[in-house]
Amino acid sequence: MLKHLFRTKSLEAILHESEVPERQLKRALGPIDLISLGIGAIIGTGIFAVVGTAVAGDALRPGAGPGIVLSFFLTAVACAFCGLCYAEFASSVPISGSAYTYSYATLGELVAWIIGWDLIIEYAIGNVAVAIGWAAYFHQLCEGLGWNIPPWLSVDYRSAVQAASAVAEAGGKVDPSIALHYEAWTNHATIAGIPIIFNFLAVAIVMLVTWLLVIGVKESARVNNVMVAVKLIILFFFVYAGVKYVKPENWSPFMPNGFSGVWVGASLIFFAYIGFDAISTAAEECKNPGRDMPIGIIGSLVICTIIYVIVAGVLTGMVPWNQLGVADPLAAAFAYVGADVSAGIVALGAVVAMTAVLLVFQYGQPRIFFSMSRDGLLPPLFAKVHPKYRTPHVTTIWTGVAVAAISAIANINEIVELTNIGTLFAFVLVCAGVIILRYKEPDRPRAFNTPFVPWIPLLGIGSCIYLMIGLPWVTWVRFGVWLLAGMVIYFLYGLRKSKLRKT
Ligand code: ALA
Repeated sequence: MLKHLFRTKSLEAILHESEVPERQLKRALGPIDLISLGIGAIIGTGIFAVVGTAVAGDALRPGAGPGIVLSFFLTAVACAFCGLCYAEFASSVPISGSAYTYSYATLGELVAWIIGWDLIIEYAIGNVAVAIGWAAYFHQLCEGLGWNIPPWLSVDYRSAVQAASAVAEAGGKVDPSIALHYEAWTNHATIAGIPIIFNFLAVAIVMLVTWLLVIGVKESARVNNVMVAVKLIILFFFVYAGVKYVKPENWSPFMPNGFSGVWVGASLIFFAYIGFDAISTAAEECKNPGRDMPIGIIGSLVICTIIYVIVAGVLTGMVPWNQLGVADPLAAAFAYVGADVSAGIVALGAVVAMTAVLLVFQYGQPRIFFSMSRDGLLPPLFAKVHPKYRTPHVTTIWTGVAVAAISAIANINEIVELTNIGTLFAFVLVCAGVIILRYKEPDRPRAFNTPFVPWIPLLGIGSCIYLMIGLPWVTWVRFGVWLLAGMVIYFLYGLRKSKLRKT
């Protein structure tokens, strides 16, 4: 059995499998589509929402202050190391499934299962955070337009309860950052005495995106392209309209909580970079993976880093850092300086940006399930492709239902932290995989070579672990429980049903 756990699937077998006609996905994507897919996944809740907590901190963590610029830089460097490793893997294993597939070919079935299971955190749980962020901005946008959506249909129950007790503790004083949650608590509907407070808006957007993805990749890639253009324009607008309100004294002190604030901020703002790796899940649907994968991954990473650093610089220059702990910091910055129209424009952009992120992640998750099912580690139903649309419709729908259900009740900060730890762990395994494959198969043709192996992958591993340590212990515990549950499922199902075992 031990031998089986570490048996690897040959890359040839993996490549061959994807050529079975009834399981074949449509090869329709080019390099621009991939960069667009990348930016679509990267720029979203991180820069529009999470940045607020990362700058200002909260009861549990010190904020980075204007030093958030350094946090972005730290995180970008870590992602660049990992991105180079991803580019090597994705260009030599151009198959649907991302890090899961690569690790199956290099580190063996057990590690592949662990990483596939772990990626559910990045994609599906990550999308829960995005959906919640989307709902918060959409709610504010509607308010701005004079449409009244009751707060009890756009926040989660637990946050509402927490807000109620925080207000009670503060002697009735309502902090603006929890005003919406508090309002949901004081003014909610009741059915048979049960308070009805759930995130209907988050559920609705997830179901809409799921439908879009079921009807086909090209159609949704086109929708994605439009949304990417819109969010780039909105961020340029933020910088252009915001720069005149910058007061250099807001940048001082630069690191109000010292370097530890910058470090914790980096662990949190890592969320803003998640997504460049999602490009690799589209490898099986792209026209020339050898050339297009590295262009897509590195290209989108570089573009987003430049944008983030500029946006963060302007944001912390406009508003004193400790005022930014709100759910919509970019819009709030304009409201702070009295530019309400600009605040509305940014809120609209945020909604569009987050919709694009939802699309890419809801696209990625089913394709990982698809690969795991093709290998026998999940039931065969997960590998079904729609006869007309050629999309993995069964897993797309199941993923949508699960993400929607959790978004209805979950708290965004906890979800962001869990997503970060799971994703960082997946990155560690990918970096390790590059080193192992170089030693195991040095002569294998690689369309893209990570430079300075093993140093770049080792730096990737080190920087990811460093960011993981910046997350609270409770996140580590949750992550441990998740991995443990995955192991139980593997030993009860995957180990017995694995196709590799039967060969
Ligand atoms: N990077 C993605 C976002 O910030 C997950 O929304």
